[in-house]
Amino acid sequence: MTTVRKVGVVGLGAMGAGIAQLCVEAGVETVGREVTAELGEAARERIAHFLTRKVEKGRLEQAERDAAVGRLALTTELDAFADCHLVIEAIVEELPAKLELFAELDRLVAPDAVLATNTSALSVTEIAAATEHAERVVGMHFFNPAPLMPLVEIVRAELSSDDAVETAYAFGERLGKHPIRCHDTPGFVVNRVLIPLLNDCVRVLDEARVTPEDLDAGMRHGAGWPMGPCTLVDLVGIDVHVHASEALYEKLREPRMAPPPRLVAMRNAGLLGRKSGRGFYVYD
Ligand code: 3HC
Repeated sequence: MTTVRKVGVVGLGAMGAGIAQLCVEAGVETVGREVTAELGEAARERIAHFLTRKVEKGRLEQAERDAAVGRLALTTELDAFADCHLVIEAIVEELPAKLELFAELDRLVAPDAVLATNTSALSVTEIAAATEHAERVVGMHFFNPAPLMPLVEIVRAELSSDDAVETAYAFGERLGKHPIRCHDTPGFVVNRVLIPLLNDCVRVLDEARVTPEDLDAGMRHGAGWPMGPCTLVDLVGIDVHVHASEALYEKLREPRMAPPPRLVAMRNAGLLGRKSGRGFYVYD
């Protein structure tokens, strides 16, 4: 197994910033890459904010918080990953962009470095095929919000080596997560179940003529969900959810996987959930 002393995170959006936060909190030197310095700084501020909240709530010492923030280096260049033992990709869910990135990372990193993708709906095997060393590529699929959700799916692609899989698994444990191992099938484990379920929830809105508030209350108080489905889709991002649904539908051809027209219309109108300030609910 590769010993991970330095990790790279490519893409510091909601997921990437959450993953970088986990890494620095676990005491690992972390390089985070965004396309502009401003986006990188915004991610650093987001991480610093959540760590400060932990200090305010007595869950973290101020000195530990400062040390964690200090472990995050920012870059706009991929060269900064040359000495990383593990690089976790969390960029846009577009296959061509991921293929280009993995081909480049594969040329840059050391022979025993592991490359992981946080993709939720694309094939890890296809992404690995962009590299000369497909055996070093695995999936590490975190859940939103990454710092709070305990699960990470460790995805074995067709050519992943045992060594790469176990390096990713051990790293997931080091981040304090509960890793599970699975193979590279559409939606892996959780999204294979959760995406059609959330699509059903959205269809029920129209079928049962129930309000988002009442549907959320229904699933929270009747099924024990920690957060209602409309709140959850708003959190995940309507665009992200529609994209994942489309990707699963394309592969599995099950009608429940197809995004409900209501969600597609919301996505087209720019109602993306929390990140755009409006989805099923309105946010400040
Ligand atoms: N990053 C870091 N820290 C965060 C955060 C974030 N994004 N969001 C909140 N926090 C911190 C905050 O500091 C917050 O405290 P504060 O409000 O006092 O500042 C603290 O965490 C606790 O937050 P909450 O009080 O909101 O915590 P809850 O106990 O209410 O739990 C939850 C929140 C864990 C998100 C819970 O509601 C839950 O489990 N929801 C379900 C989420 C879920 O199902 N996610 C999976 C989505 S599917 C997915 O990701 C797959 C993908 O491929 C699409």
